Amino acid sequence: MAGTCVIGLQWGDEAKGKLVDLLTAQFDIVVRYQGGANAGHTVVSGDTTYKLHQIPSGVLTPGVMNVVGPGVVLNPPVMIQEMDRLLSQGVPLEDNLMLSDRAHVVLPWHIAEDQVLDKNTADGESIGTTLRGIGPCYRDKVGRSYAVRLGDLYRDTFQQHVERIVEAKKEVLVMQNGHAVSLDARKIFEEFRIYADRLQPYVADTTAYLLDAVEAGKRLLFEGAQGALLDVDHGTYPFVTSSNSSGVGVSAGSGVPGRWIHKVIGVIKAYTTRVGGGPFPTELKDDIGNHIRERGREYGTTTGRPRRCGWFDAVAVRYTARLSGVDVLSLMMMDVLCELPEINICVAYEIDGKRTNVFPSHTDDLRRAKPVYETLPGWQQDVSQLRRLEDFPPNALAYIQRISQLVGRPVEVVSVGPDRQQTIFAHGAPVGV
Ligand code: GDP
Ligand code: IMO
Ligand code: MG
Repeated sequence: MAGTCVIGLQWGDEAKGKLVDLLTAQFDIVVRYQGGANAGHTVVSGDTTYKLHQIPSGVLTPGVMNVVGPGVVLNPPVMIQEMDRLLSQGVPLEDNLMLSDRAHVVLPWHIAEDQVLDKNTADGESIGTTLRGIGPCYRDKVGRSYAVRLGDLYRDTFQQHVERIVEAKKEVLVMQNGHAVSLDARKIFEEFRIYADRLQPYVADTTAYLLDAVEAGKRLLFEGAQGALLDVDHGTYPFVTSSNSSGVGVSAGSGVPGRWIHKVIGVIKAYTTRVGGGPFPTELKDDIGNHIRERGREYGTTTGRPRRCGWFDAVAVRYTARLSGVDVLSLMMMDVLCELPEINICVAYEIDGKRTNVFPSHTDDLRRAKPVYETLPGWQQDVSQLRRLEDFPPNALAYIQRISQLVGRPVEVVSVGPDRQQTIFAHGAPVGV
């Protein structure tokens, strides 16, 4: 009986996919419960790199069921592409993938709306979305009138439903865009009928399946997408994604009550990255930032965009670790900092001359936050081949310890490279259950 969650504690891309893949063998079921094709989770095994967007990262481990839950916004053509890619890489998908019939479907008008609306925040800065139609799809889900769930694709009323929505969306898009956007209801219906046929073997009532599973004592691993600072309610609003990407989203998105969740692993990088717009107090717009980007290969898995890079922000991570109910930390990318002579950690903010440890709730305040840094000596030694913490340079150990102290949680996993092998479990055994 165990529900364990893997949650990103920064602005996404903390290497959640790598950790989920490593832990999967200890579980019966891996569940994605929010987000959609905006996510890009990478798993590296030897010469093979797997990029997962909507399919859980447990899919590479035989004998484990992978569930895409009701809280995910599912893009059928992207799902089929992802399935085909995995099949071509020799990953079987029979009997190990389930898609919730309650999951909402991303349709072509959502992508069109994302392109039009992304620029319109109150302060004029673009959110810089992944343009995957995520926000518009979640908006329609909450709005209800124009929403389509996966189960709707198999109903006789689907064609009518599409025709009605397309008429309304054409008007909305003209209003928002100033000129017409071409949407052909018949074509969309025909196209999605083909997608629906392909996906049908996987579509199920995953809520009932998961409730039966927890009651039967099965072990569940929940794979978060994005990071807690992108949470729509608790993140750096409006520069967030449209779902609850912190630990608080697990139950709502999966349909599994909180009483079944027993452990939360917070995933952090040894520094910070962010893709898209929004405040980022510790951002480095200098040679050090460029160095981290190149060494860490910090370019988006989904969009290829260069990620903004900066120092580790302990104010932000202490906040998201508490918000997500984190028990232990998994510290990734320790190899990336190995050449730096000195490394900064943000231990507090100064806002309008006042020092604070509280992560501000308003973006305007976060924009004015000046990081207060503590400087630690670097270790200037390649750690990517190390497999035991005892062999780590003392300065690297001191850095890990300081992060743990500032965040208030033990570091149980340390990652020193993308490969599965480049991982150290502090207590020797994996930490999943
Ligand atoms: P996710 O979205 O949280 O799953 O993370 P991404 O896959 O988008 O980004 C993490 C990137 O870092 C991927 O390219 C991983 O292969 C890579 N990676 C994971 N762990 C490490 C590590 O410890 N060191 C380095 N250098 N790269 C890592
Ligand atoms: P994974 O799961 C990093 C960011 C986008 C943008 C904001 C809103 O790989 O960690 P959206 O398309 O969701 O409406 O974009 O959120 N974003 C991510 N950044 N990693 C992700 O996923 C992200 N998913 C969305 O860049 O700033
Ligand atoms: Mg990613």
